[in-house]
Amino acid sequence: MNIDFNTATVRDFEDIPNHNIAQRADLFYEFLEYVESQGHMNYRLKNTTGTNSVVNVNIRNENREYVSFVSSDYLGFTQHPKVKQAAIEGIEKYGTGTGATPLIGGYFDYHNKLENKIASFFGRQQEEAAIFTTGYTANSASLQCLLQKEDIAILDMAVHASVHEGCAFTNKKTFPHNNLEALEHILKTSENIYRTKLVVIDGVYSQDGDTSRVNEIYDLVKKYNAFLMVDDVHGVGILGETGRGTLEEAKLLDKVDIITGTFSKTFGSLGGYVIADKKIVALLRFQSRQQIFSATAPPSSAGIIKAIDLIDEEPIWRQKLWDNINYFKKGLDDLGLDTGITRSAIIPVKIGDPHVTGDVGRLLIDRGIYTNPILYPAVPRKDARIRMSVSARHEKEHLDKTLNAFEDINNKLHIAKK
Ligand SMILES: Cc1ncc(COP(=O)(O)O)c(C=O)c1O
Repeated sequence: MNIDFNTATVRDFEDIPNHNIAQRADLFYEFLEYVESQGHMNYRLKNTTGTNSVVNVNIRNENREYVSFVSSDYLGFTQHPKVKQAAIEGIEKYGTGTGATPLIGGYFDYHNKLENKIASFFGRQQEEAAIFTTGYTANSASLQCLLQKEDIAILDMAVHASVHEGCAFTNKKTFPHNNLEALEHILKTSENIYRTKLVVIDGVYSQDGDTSRVNEIYDLVKKYNAFLMVDDVHGVGILGETGRGTLEEAKLLDKVDIITGTFSKTFGSLGGYVIADKKIVALLRFQSRQQIFSATAPPSSAGIIKAIDLIDEEPIWRQKLWDNINYFKKGLDDLGLDTGITRSAIIPVKIGDPHVTGDVGRLLIDRGIYTNPILYPAVPRKDARIRMSVSARHEKEHLDKTLNAFEDINNKLHIAKK
């Protein structure tokens, strides 16, 4: 089996014909060594200080400070003293774990408070929120629970991997990103065939940072008597007049059937949630396999309750984030770099070639800047890019340092738009 390491990505090692586990692992290990030898190993780097705008990371056996763009802690709440304090108080009151699944003893009063808090954040009642241990399982576990063989999930091609995983046991069709004609075609040809038609989109897409055409999609979904689920993990806390996300902006908060989200990004912790009609939520609470067979979120989750409050109590963080986004994006655009169609805190610099993208990642590291080179399968093979997440905790000096580095790298590697 010949795999060209120069163009290969991790996807090429997912399933190799005629290779058993050990043979596949051997080949993959060789590939990892090759990536390391090229200085392209920007993955699983050991951070020794926590999430922040400047972090200490161990790279090539050396601990150094880097300006960091790798975290989705958009408002900087992982380091907010009030969020930390609430998490500490949670641990002091309840201990460090729950020891049980929600159905059989692991449902504590802070879980109830958290359901209540996230529900009311979206203008709903506590019965309309189910919480999960990750944003990933909020998608995968709830889809697995809701859809079976006689149903169909209709997905925007760019939705998150967790959504695809949740559709493993149902029918699934995808439509090109934000393409309304293609979506309508699938909805039309699915009529009278499936029990439930559920369209799943993201609010903000995680690789391009662009938003869904949610108003038009909502109208189509209702025209064909389908349901709509929106995963807004990268929109909540950032978009909308009061930070309720893409659906606030679209005035659809009370109309979309299912909203999913995470506590790991804007809310500075870990966990996920589903907002829906109370009867659908009851179905999830009692039928989702994660709710039945997996333990509940630990008491440090009390910090999330404070983080949700801070969205309204300290809007300054959202303002600071947007000042940073606008400044940084303009700086990159002025250099002629291709930031695509982002409308959020996710800013890609699109390069195309995966190897050049790896080189740019390495040169940024050399300049003390930590970013994520994103390759296939996260994006199409010829659409590799450097992906950066801007935070409210970045200072102008961090952004200027990064812009200067991009300017020098562009002079060397000519990565600007042709
Ligand atoms: C669009 C989207 N949905 C869901 C998730 C999963 O969230 P979590 O990391 O909280 O499990 C992610 C994570 O990056 C994401 O980008």
